[in-house]
Amino acid sequence: MNSNKPVVPGAVITVFVDGQPVQARRGQTLAAALLALGHSVLRRTRHSGKPRGLFCAMGICYDCVVTVNGETGVRACMKRVEDGMQVISPAQFKRYEPRK
Ligand code: FES
Repeated sequence: MNSNKPVVPGAVITVFVDGQPVQARRGQTLAAALLALGHSVLRRTRHSGKPRGLFCAMGICYDCVVTVNGETGVRACMKRVEDGMQVISPAQFKRYEPRK
């Protein structure tokens, strides 16, 4: 790519992450916006509770799944932010404890 055009950031919008209003830029992926806000852990593994976050950044690994506007299993790296979007990070959920 050979472009001398400057990168122009998108307009500031508000996204709600775990109920808290945060600012993002229109055109950002949700993963980029969450990383910029310091949310590097986006989910935890089902059995051991190990943290997962942005890994492939191209929709393959599903390590970035979050809940968006009530829809579960949304890949944050494949979703663009929208004004008023409600995001719940599974990372806040309790660790799975297997029965003994
Ligand atoms: S980071 Fe791999 S699917 Fe999003």
